[in-house]
Amino acid sequence: MDKEHQYLKIINLEKSFGNKKVITDINLDVNKAEVFGLLGPSGAGKTTLVKCVSGIDTATKGEVYISGEKMPKFSLMEKMGYMTQSDALYEELSGYENLSFFASIYGLKGKKKTDRINEVANLVKLQDDLKKTVVNYSGGMKRRLSLAISLLHEPDLIILDEPTVGIDPILRKSIWDELHRLSKLGKTVLVTTHVMDEAEKCDRLGMLQNGKLIAVGSPAELKDSTNSKTLEDVFLKLGGAE
Ligand SMILES: Nc1ncnc2c1ncn2[C@@H]1O[C@H](COP(=O)(O)OP(=O)(O)OP(=O)(O)O)[C@@H](O)[C@H]1O
Ligand SMILES: [Mg+2]
Repeated sequence: MDKEHQYLKIINLEKSFGNKKVITDINLDVNKAEVFGLLGPSGAGKTTLVKCVSGIDTATKGEVYISGEKMPKFSLMEKMGYMTQSDALYEELSGYENLSFFASIYGLKGKKKTDRINEVANLVKLQDDLKKTVVNYSGGMKRRLSLAISLLHEPDLIILDEPTVGIDPILRKSIWDELHRLSKLGKTVLVTTHVMDEAEKCDRLGMLQNGKLIAVGSPAELKDSTNSKTLEDVFLKLGGAE
C-alpha cells in the first residue's frame, strides 16, 4: 500500500448511540491533497463520521489513521482544522476577538498572528465586520467566521461540516475556489454536503446512507458506473433499494 498518498484511513468504523447503530462498518481511504466529499441525506451520519475522524467523538469500533499514525493523537489534531455544523463561537465577543482567541490557542503570536487573522478574514469577506459583536452577525456571517477560524493555523487536514449553508452563491464559489487552492498546496479537505452541485466540485465522493458508505468514486465515475446523468440519479439508483 502506498502510505504516502493514503493520508486518511478509516478502518471498520462503527458508531452507536445506546443500541442504535448510526455508522456501520465504514472503510475509506482519502488521499493526500484530495478534496473528498461526504454526501448524504439528513441523518445519514455525515456529522457523526467526521466527528469520529477528527477525534471530537470516539467511535464504538474501528480505527482512524492519519499519515499512518493512529488517532486520537494530539500532534495530529494540532494539524487539523475542524469547522463544526453548528457554529462554536463566542457570541458576546467581536469577530476579531474570536479570531484572536483561537489564533492564540493555535500558538500564533505577534505579526504572524495579525497577518493570518487578516488573511482568513479577507478570504471569507468579513474584514469590514470584525469589530461587530458576533451576536449581531447573520447566520451566513457566523458560518464564514467559523470557516475562517478553522483555517487560521494552516492545517494539513481541513474538515468542514456543511460549510456553505446560509452562504450566498458568490461567496460559496470563492470558498470552493479556496478549498481547491488549499488542495493544490497539498492540504487534504474532507467536506460534508447534501448539495449536489457542491458534490460535483469534489475530486472524489463517498455516498452515505443510513450510516453505510454505499459508493465511493469521482463524480464522473459514479455517474458512469450507474448510467446516471446526475449525482442525484446515482443516489436514487444506489440508495433506492434500501
Ligand atoms: N448524540 C446523539 N445521540 C443519539 N443519536 C444521535 C446523536 N448524534 C447523532 N445521532 C443520530 O445519528 C444519526 C446520524 O446523525 P448525523 O448528525 O451524523 O447525520 P447527518 O448526516 O450529519 O445529518 P444532517 O445532514 O442533518 O446534518 C441520526 O439518526 C441522529 O439522530
Ligand atoms: Mg450533519
